[in-house]
Amino acid sequence: MASNDLQGKVRETLSEMEYAQDEAALRIVFGKAMSGNGWINAILKTIKDVPSEARKSFGQAVNEAKNTISNAFERRLESFKSALEVEKGFLDLTLESAPALAGRLHPTTQALRRICEIFVSMGFEVVDGPEIEDEHHNFDALNIPADHPARDNMDTFFIQGDIILRTHTSPVQVRTMEGIARGDDLLIRVISPGVTYRRDRPDRTHTPVFSQVEGLMVGKGITFSHMAGTLQSFAREFFGEGINLRLRPDFFPFVEPGGEAAVTCPICRGKGCPTCKRSGWVEIMGCGMVHPNVLDKQGIPSDRYQGFAFGMGVERITQMLFQVEDSRWFFENDIRFLRQFH
Ligand code: DAH
Repeated sequence: MASNDLQGKVRETLSEMEYAQDEAALRIVFGKAMSGNGWINAILKTIKDVPSEARKSFGQAVNEAKNTISNAFERRLESFKSALEVEKGFLDLTLESAPALAGRLHPTTQALRRICEIFVSMGFEVVDGPEIEDEHHNFDALNIPADHPARDNMDTFFIQGDIILRTHTSPVQVRTMEGIARGDDLLIRVISPGVTYRRDRPDRTHTPVFSQVEGLMVGKGITFSHMAGTLQSFAREFFGEGINLRLRPDFFPFVEPGGEAAVTCPICRGKGCPTCKRSGWVEIMGCGMVHPNVLDKQGIPSDRYQGFAFGMGVERITQMLFQVEDSRWFFENDIRFLRQFH
């Protein structure tokens, strides 16, 4: 059994114990895990299938799981006992209680706010767009026609007819261009944080719901260098000094040229580690110069105006900022995980 499954089972048992309403219910949960024919022993029996060099760490992981469960059991048992003492009048209720836990911001929210702050300090405005979109804004207006293979990469949740859950925040680019006042000196500088949806199987780096931040700047004489400079400044502000930006060509139908932006791995600072697959770089966003078709379709003449756009995955960046191994944890609402972020 993989250690992930083991941790999953432990988490499940801990939360069942938390939910147990009395001692009897608690003992049943404990027994399901720890008794002779409980799941811990079942896992332990699979040790014979574990390669000999991995046995030691397997055994340790199982022992740790046992300790965690036993400790949680004792604590929960104790809490029932003290409840009983109150009933019997043994407990002095005038004693000061433990301080109540204050809520705090979710790590993704913290990263998202920081990203917005940085772009706002560069003159960008934060705008919002709908999560329930139509195919026109999500695809067609972004130069992704119905038969375009790029639609396949984004397994879409369909609601009804051409109404979908947006697969990225890029449709906000279109909505912003639609809504902007046409003048001679049109200038757009917006970012748009928000939730996006794809039919992905959850794993360490994918969840069917995730967040992106989209950016769009359009004006006269906006060049690729403006984009490179903006993104470089962002990366340094966000991850700290010594972080460089690497731009490589990539394809997205709504930009030309399109690129993929990577930063010096913020964990090993470029030396090479498992997070950056020993390359020293981690990809954080797609970007590029807004495709002339996209501008022209919105009545912004591409011979007079140019712009750049970018879109980044927030969970991925948050994972790197706080060194979180598994992006599913962001969605599980496990208080022991969330408590670690001040
Ligand atoms: N929307 C793209 C995606 O979700 C990311 C992206 C790439 C956004 C390039 C952009 C861009 O604005 O210019 O995969």
